[in-house]
Amino acid sequence: MLVLGIESSCDETAAAVVESSGGRPLIRSNVVASQIDIHRHFGGVVPELASRNHLKMILPVIEEALTRAGVGLGELSGIAVTQGPGLIGSLLVGFNVAKSLSLASGVPYRAVSHLESHIFAAMLESELEFPFLGLVVSGGHSSILWLEKLGQYITLARTRDDAVGEAFDKIAKFLRLGYPGGPAIEKTALSGNPRSFSFPRAVMKDRSLDFSYSGLKTAVILETRKHSLPLPPSRLSDLAASFQEAAVDMIISRVEGALRLKGTNQLVVSGGVACNTRLRERLAELSRSLGVRLLLPSPHLCTDNGAMVAMSGLLYLQAGMTSPLDLNAYPIEAFHSADKKN
Ligand code: KG4
Ligand code: ZN
Repeated sequence: MLVLGIESSCDETAAAVVESSGGRPLIRSNVVASQIDIHRHFGGVVPELASRNHLKMILPVIEEALTRAGVGLGELSGIAVTQGPGLIGSLLVGFNVAKSLSLASGVPYRAVSHLESHIFAAMLESELEFPFLGLVVSGGHSSILWLEKLGQYITLARTRDDAVGEAFDKIAKFLRLGYPGGPAIEKTALSGNPRSFSFPRAVMKDRSLDFSYSGLKTAVILETRKHSLPLPPSRLSDLAASFQEAAVDMIISRVEGALRLKGTNQLVVSGGVACNTRLRERLAELSRSLGVRLLLPSPHLCTDNGAMVAMSGLLYLQAGMTSPLDLNAYPIEAFHSADKKN
Protein backbone atom coordinates (compact mmCIF):
# COMPACT_ATOMS: atom_id res chain seq x y z
CA MET A 1 0.00 0.00 0.00
CA LEU A 2 1.20 3.50 -0.83
CA VAL A 3 -0.41 6.37 1.06
CA LEU A 4 0.04 10.11 0.56
CA GLY A 5 -0.35 12.08 3.81
CA ILE A 6 -1.24 15.79 3.74
CA GLU A 7 -0.96 18.06 6.80
CA SER A 8 -1.84 21.77 7.01
CA SER A 9 -3.41 22.24 10.46
CA CYS A 10 -1.10 24.95 11.73
CA ASP A 11 2.03 26.54 10.27
CA GLU A 12 3.70 23.66 8.42
CA THR A 13 2.64 22.66 4.93
CA ALA A 14 3.58 19.00 4.80
CA ALA A 15 3.18 15.95 2.58
CA ALA A 16 4.70 12.48 2.67
CA VAL A 17 4.42 9.09 1.04
CA VAL A 18 4.47 6.04 3.30
CA GLU A 19 4.60 2.48 2.01
CA SER A 20 3.50 -0.67 3.73
CA SER A 21 4.14 -4.11 2.39
CA GLY A 22 3.34 -6.05 5.53
CA GLY A 23 6.22 -5.22 7.90
CA ARG A 24 7.24 -1.88 9.36
CA PRO A 25 5.95 1.04 7.21
CA LEU A 26 8.59 2.76 5.10
CA ILE A 27 8.73 6.55 4.72
CA ARG A 28 9.36 7.02 0.99
CA SER A 29 9.33 10.84 1.26
CA ASN A 30 8.57 13.42 3.95
CA VAL A 31 8.46 17.07 2.85
CA VAL A 32 7.81 19.91 5.31
CA ALA A 33 7.62 23.57 4.29
CA SER A 34 7.86 25.49 7.53
CA GLN A 35 6.41 28.98 7.92
CA ILE A 36 8.55 29.76 10.96
CA ASP A 37 10.31 32.66 9.23
CA ILE A 38 6.96 34.27 8.39
CA HIS A 39 5.51 34.05 11.92
CA ARG A 40 8.78 34.73 13.80
CA HIS A 41 8.32 38.46 13.35
CA PHE A 42 5.02 38.25 15.32
CA GLY A 43 6.23 35.82 18.01
CA GLY A 44 3.41 33.39 17.20
CA VAL A 45 1.32 31.96 14.37
CA VAL A 46 -0.86 34.53 12.55
CA PRO A 47 -3.80 32.44 11.22
CA GLU A 48 -4.52 34.52 8.11
CA LEU A 49 -0.86 34.47 7.02
CA ALA A 50 -0.73 30.72 7.69
CA SER A 51 -3.71 30.03 5.38
CA ARG A 52 -2.32 32.20 2.58
CA ASN A 53 1.03 30.43 2.73
CA HIS A 54 -0.55 27.00 2.78
CA LEU A 55 -2.34 27.99 -0.43
CA LYS A 56 0.97 28.97 -1.98
CA MET A 57 2.89 25.89 -0.85
CA ILE A 58 0.43 23.00 -0.81
CA LEU A 59 0.71 21.86 -4.44
CA PRO A 60 4.52 22.25 -4.71
CA VAL A 61 4.94 20.34 -1.43
CA ILE A 62 2.66 17.49 -2.59
CA GLU A 63 4.44 17.34 -5.97
CA GLU A 64 7.81 17.24 -4.21
CA ALA A 65 6.66 14.41 -1.93
CA LEU A 66 5.42 12.35 -4.89
CA THR A 67 8.58 13.07 -6.92
CA ARG A 68 10.95 12.16 -4.09
CA ALA A 69 8.99 8.94 -3.53
CA GLY A 70 9.03 8.22 -7.27
CA VAL A 71 5.27 7.67 -7.21
CA GLY A 72 2.52 8.97 -9.52
CA LEU A 73 -0.86 10.05 -8.14
CA GLY A 74 -2.59 7.13 -9.84
CA GLU A 75 -0.27 4.60 -8.16
CA LEU A 76 -1.45 5.59 -4.66
CA SER A 77 -3.68 3.28 -2.63
CA GLY A 78 -5.05 6.23 -0.70
CA ILE A 79 -4.74 9.87 0.33
CA ALA A 80 -4.86 10.75 4.04
CA VAL A 81 -5.46 14.28 5.24
CA THR A 82 -5.75 16.11 8.56
CA GLN A 83 -9.40 17.02 9.15
CA GLY A 84 -8.86 18.70 12.55
CA PRO A 85 -8.30 19.99 15.15
CA GLY A 86 -6.33 23.07 14.15
CA LEU A 87 -6.67 26.50 12.55
CA ILE A 88 -9.75 26.23 10.37
CA GLY A 89 -8.43 28.38 7.52
CA SER A 90 -5.24 26.32 7.41
CA LEU A 91 -7.03 22.97 7.65
CA LEU A 92 -9.39 23.84 4.78
CA VAL A 93 -6.48 24.25 2.37
CA GLY A 94 -5.08 20.73 2.83
CA PHE A 95 -8.51 19.18 3.27
CA ASN A 96 -9.97 20.56 0.05
CA VAL A 97 -6.84 19.77 -1.95
CA ALA A 98 -6.97 16.17 -0.69
CA LYS A 99 -10.64 15.81 -1.62
CA SER A 100 -10.01 17.37 -5.05
CA LEU A 101 -7.09 15.03 -5.74
CA SER A 102 -9.23 12.08 -4.68
CA LEU A 103 -12.12 13.15 -6.90
CA ALA A 104 -9.87 13.81 -9.90
CA SER A 105 -7.79 10.64 -9.61
CA GLY A 106 -10.31 8.18 -8.22
CA VAL A 107 -7.88 7.34 -5.38
CA PRO A 108 -9.85 6.95 -2.10
CA TYR A 109 -9.18 9.42 0.68
CA ARG A 110 -9.36 9.20 4.45
CA ALA A 111 -9.85 12.11 6.88
CA VAL A 112 -7.80 11.67 10.07
CA SER A 113 -7.36 13.54 13.35
CA HIS A 114 -4.23 15.58 13.98
CA LEU A 115 -3.98 14.14 17.50
CA GLU A 116 -4.21 10.49 16.48
CA SER A 117 -1.62 11.21 13.77
CA HIS A 118 0.83 12.66 16.29
CA ILE A 119 0.46 9.48 18.32
CA PHE A 120 0.55 7.05 15.38
CA ALA A 121 3.89 8.64 14.35
CA ALA A 122 5.36 6.13 16.84
CA MET A 123 4.26 3.27 14.55
CA LEU A 124 6.63 4.52 11.86
CA GLU A 125 9.53 3.45 14.09
CA SER A 126 8.22 0.76 16.45
CA GLU A 127 5.73 -2.05 16.71
CA LEU A 128 2.70 -0.94 18.71
CA GLU A 129 -0.54 -2.75 19.53
CA PHE A 130 -3.75 -1.22 20.95
CA PRO A 131 -4.65 -0.34 23.68
CA PHE A 132 -2.19 2.27 24.93
CA LEU A 133 -1.94 5.72 26.49
CA GLY A 134 -1.05 8.67 24.27
CA LEU A 135 0.14 12.12 25.29
CA VAL A 136 0.20 14.93 22.72
CA VAL A 137 2.10 18.02 23.82
CA SER A 138 2.40 20.68 21.14
CA GLY A 139 1.74 24.32 20.31
CA GLY A 140 -1.98 23.68 20.09
CA HIS A 141 -2.60 20.68 22.33
CA SER A 142 -1.90 19.17 25.74
CA SER A 143 -4.03 16.04 25.68
CA ILE A 144 -3.88 12.61 27.21
CA LEU A 145 -5.82 9.98 25.30
CA TRP A 146 -6.68 6.39 25.96
CA LEU A 147 -6.54 4.66 22.59
CA GLU A 148 -8.68 1.57 22.92
CA LYS A 149 -8.62 0.63 19.26
CA LEU A 150 -8.48 2.37 15.89
CA GLY A 151 -10.90 5.34 15.96
CA GLN A 152 -12.04 4.63 19.52
CA TYR A 153 -10.43 7.05 21.95
CA ILE A 154 -11.21 8.57 25.34
CA THR A 155 -9.80 11.97 26.25
CA LEU A 156 -8.49 11.68 29.82
CA ALA A 157 -7.07 15.21 29.98
CA ARG A 158 -6.88 18.36 27.93
CA THR A 159 -5.80 21.91 28.66
CA ARG A 160 -8.19 24.37 30.27
CA ASP A 161 -6.29 27.35 28.88
CA ASP A 162 -2.95 27.42 27.02
CA ALA A 163 -1.35 24.38 25.48
CA VAL A 164 2.10 23.66 26.90
CA GLY A 165 3.91 24.62 23.66
CA GLU A 166 1.91 27.84 23.58
CA ALA A 167 3.15 28.62 27.11
CA PHE A 168 6.76 28.01 25.99
CA ASP A 169 6.19 30.31 22.98
CA LYS A 170 4.56 33.09 25.01
CA ILE A 171 7.18 33.04 27.77
CA ALA A 172 9.98 33.04 25.18
CA LYS A 173 8.35 36.02 23.48
CA PHE A 174 8.06 37.85 26.81
CA LEU A 175 11.71 37.10 27.64
CA ARG A 176 12.72 38.12 24.09
CA LEU A 177 14.29 34.74 23.41
CA GLY A 178 12.90 34.32 19.89
CA TYR A 179 10.44 32.03 18.09
CA PRO A 180 9.58 29.19 18.28
CA GLY A 181 9.88 29.43 22.03
CA GLY A 182 10.31 25.77 22.95
CA PRO A 183 13.78 25.24 21.50
CA ALA A 184 14.83 28.77 22.62
CA ILE A 185 13.78 28.13 26.25
CA GLU A 186 15.39 24.69 26.25
CA LYS A 187 18.70 26.16 25.04
CA THR A 188 18.60 29.05 27.53
CA ALA A 189 17.68 26.68 30.37
CA LEU A 190 20.73 24.46 29.78
CA SER A 191 23.03 26.55 31.99
CA GLY A 192 20.29 27.55 34.48
CA ASN A 193 19.28 26.24 37.89
CA PRO A 194 15.73 24.80 37.76
CA ARG A 195 15.32 25.44 41.51
CA SER A 196 16.12 29.18 41.40
CA PHE A 197 12.47 30.17 41.29
CA SER A 198 9.61 28.16 42.75
CA PHE A 199 6.87 28.57 40.19
CA PRO A 200 3.40 27.10 40.78
CA ARG A 201 2.32 23.67 39.50
CA ALA A 202 -1.42 23.76 38.78
CA VAL A 203 -3.55 21.04 40.37
CA MET A 204 -7.26 20.79 39.53
CA LYS A 205 -9.66 21.08 42.48
CA ASP A 206 -11.92 18.41 40.98
CA ARG A 207 -8.94 16.00 40.82
CA SER A 208 -9.23 15.90 37.05
CA LEU A 209 -6.03 15.31 35.06
CA ASP A 210 -6.61 18.47 32.97
CA PHE A 211 -3.72 20.81 32.28
CA SER A 212 -3.53 24.54 33.00
CA TYR A 213 -0.60 26.77 32.12
CA SER A 214 -2.01 30.28 32.68
CA GLY A 215 -0.97 30.41 36.36
CA LEU A 216 2.61 29.41 35.56
CA LYS A 217 2.73 31.91 32.70
CA THR A 218 1.49 34.74 34.96
CA ALA A 219 3.96 33.78 37.71
CA VAL A 220 6.91 33.93 35.29
CA ILE A 221 5.76 37.28 33.90
CA LEU A 222 5.26 38.77 37.40
CA GLU A 223 8.70 37.56 38.48
CA THR A 224 10.30 39.02 35.35
CA ARG A 225 8.61 42.38 35.91
CA LYS A 226 10.46 42.72 39.23
CA HIS A 227 13.67 43.12 37.23
CA SER A 228 14.66 45.43 34.42
CA LEU A 229 14.90 43.86 30.98
CA PRO A 230 17.02 42.49 29.47
CA LEU A 231 17.85 40.22 32.39
CA PRO A 232 21.51 39.30 32.96
CA PRO A 233 22.22 35.99 31.11
CA SER A 234 22.56 33.90 34.28
CA ARG A 235 19.18 35.14 35.67
CA LEU A 236 17.58 34.53 32.31
CA SER A 237 18.89 30.95 32.28
CA ASP A 238 17.66 30.37 35.84
CA LEU A 239 14.23 31.72 34.92
CA ALA A 240 14.02 29.58 31.76
CA ALA A 241 15.18 26.46 33.65
CA SER A 242 12.68 27.04 36.49
CA PHE A 243 9.83 27.61 34.03
CA GLN A 244 10.76 24.50 32.01
CA GLU A 245 10.96 22.36 35.15
CA ALA A 246 7.51 23.51 36.32
CA ALA A 247 6.03 22.93 32.85
CA VAL A 248 7.55 19.43 32.69
CA ASP A 249 6.50 18.60 36.28
CA MET A 250 2.87 19.30 35.37
CA ILE A 251 3.10 16.92 32.41
CA ILE A 252 4.77 14.17 34.44
CA SER A 253 2.21 14.29 37.28
CA ARG A 254 -0.69 14.00 34.80
CA VAL A 255 0.91 11.19 32.82
CA GLU A 256 1.64 9.29 36.03
CA GLY A 257 -2.00 9.73 37.11
CA ALA A 258 -3.28 8.52 33.73
CA LEU A 259 -0.91 5.51 33.66
CA ARG A 260 -2.11 4.47 37.12
CA LEU A 261 -5.75 5.09 36.19
CA LYS A 262 -5.59 2.84 33.13
CA GLY A 263 -3.08 0.36 34.55
CA THR A 264 -1.40 0.23 31.17
CA ASN A 265 2.22 -0.50 30.39
CA GLN A 266 2.43 1.32 27.04
CA LEU A 267 2.89 5.06 26.65
CA VAL A 268 3.36 7.09 23.46
CA VAL A 269 4.39 10.74 23.69
CA SER A 270 4.49 13.04 20.68
CA GLY A 271 3.92 16.62 19.46
CA GLY A 272 6.50 19.40 19.17
CA VAL A 273 7.13 19.68 22.93
CA ALA A 274 8.09 15.97 22.96
CA CYS A 275 11.36 17.15 21.34
CA ASN A 276 12.28 18.72 24.70
CA THR A 277 15.26 16.88 26.19
CA ARG A 278 14.30 17.52 29.81
CA LEU A 279 10.79 16.16 29.20
CA ARG A 280 12.23 13.11 27.43
CA GLU A 281 14.55 12.45 30.41
CA ARG A 282 11.75 12.78 32.94
CA LEU A 283 9.41 10.53 30.90
CA ALA A 284 12.16 7.92 30.65
CA GLU A 285 12.65 8.04 34.46
CA LEU A 286 8.91 7.74 35.09
CA SER A 287 8.50 4.86 32.65
CA ARG A 288 11.46 3.02 34.15
CA SER A 289 10.09 3.39 37.67
CA LEU A 290 6.61 2.17 36.65
CA GLY A 291 7.80 -0.56 34.28
CA VAL A 292 6.12 1.11 31.31
CA ARG A 293 7.25 0.80 27.68
CA LEU A 294 7.80 4.38 26.45
CA LEU A 295 7.62 5.21 22.76
CA LEU A 296 8.97 8.61 21.79
CA PRO A 297 9.16 9.24 18.03
CA SER A 298 12.34 10.87 16.66
CA PRO A 299 12.11 14.68 16.94
CA HIS A 300 11.39 15.21 13.20
CA LEU A 301 8.37 12.90 13.56
CA CYS A 302 7.18 14.62 16.79
CA THR A 303 6.69 18.01 15.12
CA ASP A 304 4.01 18.41 12.43
CA ASN A 305 4.72 16.28 9.35
CA GLY A 306 2.95 14.40 6.57
CA ALA A 307 4.35 10.95 7.41
CA MET A 308 2.32 10.74 10.63
CA VAL A 309 -0.84 11.59 8.66
CA ALA A 310 -0.01 8.93 6.05
CA MET A 311 0.54 6.45 8.92
CA SER A 312 -2.96 7.16 10.29
CA GLY A 313 -4.39 6.85 6.80
CA LEU A 314 -2.63 3.54 6.32
CA LEU A 315 -4.31 2.10 9.42
CA TYR A 316 -7.77 3.19 8.29
CA LEU A 317 -7.30 2.15 4.66
CA GLN A 318 -5.98 -1.25 5.74
CA ALA A 319 -9.21 -1.58 7.74
CA GLY A 320 -11.18 -0.65 4.60
CA MET A 321 -12.32 2.67 6.09
CA THR A 322 -12.40 5.53 3.58
CA SER A 323 -14.19 8.89 3.94
CA PRO A 324 -17.04 10.44 1.95
CA LEU A 325 -16.35 13.61 -0.05
CA ASP A 326 -18.97 15.71 1.78
CA LEU A 327 -17.04 15.88 5.07
CA ASN A 328 -15.76 19.21 6.35
CA ALA A 329 -12.73 20.18 8.43
CA TYR A 330 -13.23 20.88 12.16
CA PRO A 331 -11.26 23.26 14.41
CA ILE A 332 -11.68 21.59 17.82
CA GLU A 333 -11.22 18.06 19.14
CA ALA A 334 -13.97 15.80 17.71
CA PHE A 335 -12.66 12.34 17.10
CA HIS A 336 -15.67 10.74 15.62
CA SER A 337 -16.58 13.27 12.97
CA ALA A 338 -14.38 11.46 10.42
CA ASP A 339 -16.70 8.47 10.65
CA LYS A 340 -20.05 10.21 10.96
CA LYS A 341 -21.08 9.50 7.42
CA ASN A 342 -19.26 6.20 6.88
O1 KG4 B 1 3.53 19.66 17.02
P1 KG4 B 1 3.95 21.02 16.60
O2 KG4 B 1 4.99 21.12 15.51
O3 KG4 B 1 2.73 21.88 16.13
C1 KG4 B 1 1.48 21.83 16.75
O4 KG4 B 1 0.68 20.90 16.46
O5 KG4 B 1 1.25 22.75 17.59
O6 KG4 B 1 4.46 21.77 17.92
C2 KG4 B 1 5.03 23.05 17.92
C3 KG4 B 1 5.28 23.46 19.36
C4 KG4 B 1 5.71 24.92 19.52
O7 KG4 B 1 4.95 25.50 20.55
C5 KG4 B 1 7.18 24.80 19.94
O8 KG4 B 1 7.63 25.87 20.75
C6 KG4 B 1 7.18 23.48 20.69
O9 KG4 B 1 6.32 22.65 19.93
N1 KG4 B 1 8.51 22.88 20.76
C7 KG4 B 1 9.19 22.70 21.93
C8 KG4 B 1 10.45 22.19 21.57
N2 KG4 B 1 10.50 22.05 20.21
C9 KG4 B 1 9.30 22.49 19.73
N3 KG4 B 1 8.82 22.93 23.20
C10 KG4 B 1 9.73 22.66 24.17
N4 KG4 B 1 10.99 22.19 23.91
C11 KG4 B 1 11.38 21.94 22.63
N5 KG4 B 1 12.62 21.48 22.40
ZN1 ZN C 1 0.82 19.15 15.81
